[in-house]
Amino acid sequence: MPEHVVGPVAEFPPGSQRLVRLGRIEVGVFNVDGVFYALPNVCPHQFGPLCEGGVTGATACSAATGWKFAWEREGEVVTCPWHGVEFDITTGRSLVAPDRLKVRTYPVVVEDGQVKVRL
Ligand code: FES
Repeated sequence: MPEHVVGPVAEFPPGSQRLVRLGRIEVGVFNVDGVFYALPNVCPHQFGPLCEGGVTGATACSAATGWKFAWEREGEVVTCPWHGVEFDITTGRSLVAPDRLKVRTYPVVVEDGQVKVRL
């Protein structure tokens, strides 16, 4: 699995989101509370630039929230800028159709102070 150094870890503070080009593809690298994730910058809906979207959380309403709307998972959701489909950064799955609308995720490691994405 080819490994690509994308920069020093200091350039990716918690909450950061950064696009990097790795050969012919563009990848979004996200630091979610100190854990790194990488997704392709292509939305599976209509190929919009997914990783250029805003990073937020999401509302939830379930038995776990007492059937009241609650704001959860701040910093774990990226919203595609073209049509607003939200994706879980940690899994690549959309919130609206997790089994149908999803992107792959790439492993990210930090070694010797460098962030590395494995394609
Ligand atoms: S292209 Fe991403 S939501 Fe439509």
